[in-house]
Amino acid sequence: TACLLNLPECLFPWVFADAGILKVAPVRLVNGPSRCAGRVEVFLNQQWGTVCDDGWNITDAGVVCRQLGCGTALSAPGGARFGPGSDPIWLADVNCAGTEPVLSQCRARLLGVNNCNHGEDAGVVCSDAGISEVAQLRLVNGPSRCAGRLEVFHNQQWGTVCDNSWDLQDAGVVCRQLGCGTALSAPRGAHFGQGSDHIWLNNVNCTGTEVALSDCRARPWGENNCTHREDAGVECSEVAQIRLVNSWSRCAGRVEVLHNQQWGTVCDDIWDITNAEVVCRQLGCGPALTAPRGARFGQGSERIWLDDVNCTGTEATLSDCRARPWGDNNCDHGEDAGVLQGSIWQFK
Ligand SMILES: *[C@@H]1O[C@H](CO)[C@@H](O)[C@H](O)[C@H]1NC(C)=O
Ligand SMILES: *[C@@H]1O[C@H](CO)[C@@H](O)[C@H](O)[C@H]1NC(C)=O
Ligand SMILES: *[C@@H]1O[C@H](CO)[C@@H](O)[C@H](O)[C@H]1NC(C)=O
Ligand SMILES: *[C@@H]1O[C@H](CO)[C@@H](O)[C@H](O)[C@H]1NC(C)=O
Repeated sequence: TACLLNLPECLFPWVFADAGILKVAPVRLVNGPSRCAGRVEVFLNQQWGTVCDDGWNITDAGVVCRQLGCGTALSAPGGARFGPGSDPIWLADVNCAGTEPVLSQCRARLLGVNNCNHGEDAGVVCSDAGISEVAQLRLVNGPSRCAGRLEVFHNQQWGTVCDNSWDLQDAGVVCRQLGCGTALSAPRGAHFGQGSDHIWLNNVNCTGTEVALSDCRARPWGENNCTHREDAGVECSEVAQIRLVNSWSRCAGRVEVLHNQQWGTVCDDIWDITNAEVVCRQLGCGPALTAPRGARFGQGSERIWLDDVNCTGTEATLSDCRARPWGDNNCDHGEDAGVLQGSIWQFK
């Protein structure tokens, strides 16, 4: 009554017949935190089996989430992130268009005997899993939310990532996921201190194009023999949480600082060259030439985050300088502060 492998009705779409009625193959997500996240398993030939991660991506995961009534896909982790299943491995090269109501309408290679192993089992995290896997990353013990020891949330607990094979490509995915720009470095050896709880991931191996760390290949959760002396870190380009906007160069423009996940401007009250020097150093921009006031680089439109900034000149970042508390000011955007770095004039 079920689909027998290699029969035409098992091919595309690989519906199976039950008492003469074509049915979609049931799908489930196992070994995850909820029924809406886990290792993908498909019921064919009266047996549950897994899906190989060759060609597995977020489009395919989205169809699984739809079929299960679990919302949309947040990530499509491969590499047996939710542990290896047991035989059979039913599918490989799944290639959904994204509009299919059920996985069994997607193109795929039906297997049974194949060149995949259970280390390549595909997984899915859907939006209704009750965890937002995509949001579940943080960088701690660093100078800002965009630099620090990497921690990931799994099974309701934060844990670290072991630095085996940890590199700039992996760090880049973290920076993108956190909205922190690109990766500047991928420090190893507990550069940002040692964590204390679980070590969740090891042998992370991103290709660099993933939208979330959970899409990268890695050892299954918690499977490693690392110590916290090997905790991985990340430094992203927006570690500074400061930027110069509305000019021809990243080293000139209106000063904007990131606070509470929101960019805002700096008021020009007592704004001077010493402050501008701190900004330039922070951005790796060489010496400051001037500290233009009065919205010389145009007016911002969001919050005015800082006022009465009074650097001594030795600070590493603008937020280390004396200033009023965040958001406390008596300014309008006509007083937005700017910075002009020296060497850009070499081109004039
Ligand atoms: C998923 O993979 C298919 C090819 O297998 C590709 O056409 C599609 O664009 C991919 N989707 C994403 C979001 O990368
Ligand atoms: C990372 O994965 C690629 C395949 O995607 C593989 O060729 C490479 O050897 C892996 N690197 C490590 C360090 O495991
Ligand atoms: C540690 O991990 C490596 C690689 O996964 C493995 O070869 C080795 O046997 C492990 N050692 C212990 C003590 O588990
Ligand atoms: C800036 O701070 C210094 C102390 O660090 C103080 O002496 C000086 O008066 C301050 N300048 C302004 C304009 O508030």
